[in-house]
Amino acid sequence: MSSLRLDARVAGLEPSATLAIQERSRALARQGREVVRLGLGQSPFPVPDVVVEALRDHAREKDYLPVGGLEALRAAVASYHEARHGIRAHAEDVLVAPGSKELMFLLQIVHDGDLLIPTPAWVSYEPQARIVGRRPVLIHTRREDDYKLHAEQLEALCRESRETSRVLILNYPSNPTGTTFSPAELDAIAEVARRHEVVVLSDEIYGELHHEGAHESIAKRYPEGTIISSGLSKWCGAGGWRLGTFVFPRELSHLRRAMAAVASETYTSTSAPIQYAAVRAFERGEAVDRYLASSRAIVSGLARASTALLRQGGAELPEARGAFYVYPDFEAHRARLARRGITSSPELAEALLEEVGVACLPGSDFGRPISELALRLSLVDFDGARALAAMAARDTSSPPDEDYLEQHCGRVLEATRRIGVWMCAD
Ligand SMILES: Cc1ncc(COP(=O)(O)O)c(C=O)c1O
Repeated sequence: MSSLRLDARVAGLEPSATLAIQERSRALARQGREVVRLGLGQSPFPVPDVVVEALRDHAREKDYLPVGGLEALRAAVASYHEARHGIRAHAEDVLVAPGSKELMFLLQIVHDGDLLIPTPAWVSYEPQARIVGRRPVLIHTRREDDYKLHAEQLEALCRESRETSRVLILNYPSNPTGTTFSPAELDAIAEVARRHEVVVLSDEIYGELHHEGAHESIAKRYPEGTIISSGLSKWCGAGGWRLGTFVFPRELSHLRRAMAAVASETYTSTSAPIQYAAVRAFERGEAVDRYLASSRAIVSGLARASTALLRQGGAELPEARGAFYVYPDFEAHRARLARRGITSSPELAEALLEEVGVACLPGSDFGRPISELALRLSLVDFDGARALAAMAARDTSSPPDEDYLEQHCGRVLEATRRIGVWMCAD
């Protein structure tokens, strides 16, 4: 049926980079190749038992729920953000959807104006903008700023442009770098955003995975202009359950209503049993807190150890302070790599997969210039359930020791070691 045309906005669009690398790794594994999977950004940890039990208890919930979400869940999400981030929120300010990715897409559909994306940025923001026919404004952050948006960059951009309807995506802790903003940096960005009336879409999906449990939201500093994005996927290990949340300020209720209207004509509502179970997750409590403390200690220890190994291998990378990613740049090896025919991040990622057996994503997938030799490593190829069980008897106030990491996350450490050795080989 060659007469069937594709819309110009999606022609040439490929499946999301993270999903593609997972497919590629699986295909190599089927051929009997050993591949360490540091490509997909999926939590290594199981969903906490108490949340799984809540899902089991509600398996018979079968009715469509309100498009905005189950009232009890919206109330739990609002209370959680009030307690955790010092903002005022009510159930009616919350929108629940099958994943925060879906909510971001809805936002892009209903918003008319500029979307500002600091890079390196999560892989889907930009393609979503293109699908809805908008041209996002990329702001390349600097390596010397640890790839964090500087308030002055935002100021310069706002001064240059005449557009007044603007949304800035701020993701911290960051995917792909693991870095996060200090309170002073958040203050500075909030001040510029308020002055120029830029709405901040604060993607805090990794907030609970701040390595010290000290995540702060920009919403506290700029409540009237911040939408907080969160969900179950990362801190609750439930990516496949598909549940995301947005919390809106009253000032943006017209945006929330427009998004809910589009949602009502597309997915109708989010899976009912999952929403009931999510109430339990957002209520937190001792079991969930313990799970989180252990998860943070493990990812923090692993990020530190991997960073040290990558630096020994000549990489430059910022200290990760949250999430489970590191973002090494191999600029120091440019000449050596060029002799092997590698001059871009996709070529580097491809060579690592083929020659070292490590799957990771090139910096270019995160909106960076293709010639940069940076990669995102997702430090998740280990048995999260076993690692958590082994933390049960341990102090979680500091990262586990080297022996623990070698025993439970050895594949990841070995992969980072092998990358360093491969880089340095002539
Ligand atoms: C930075 C960031 N934001 C949003 C998402 C989307 O999460 P979900 O749709 O599972 O809520 C992800 C998932 O990888 C992410 O890394």
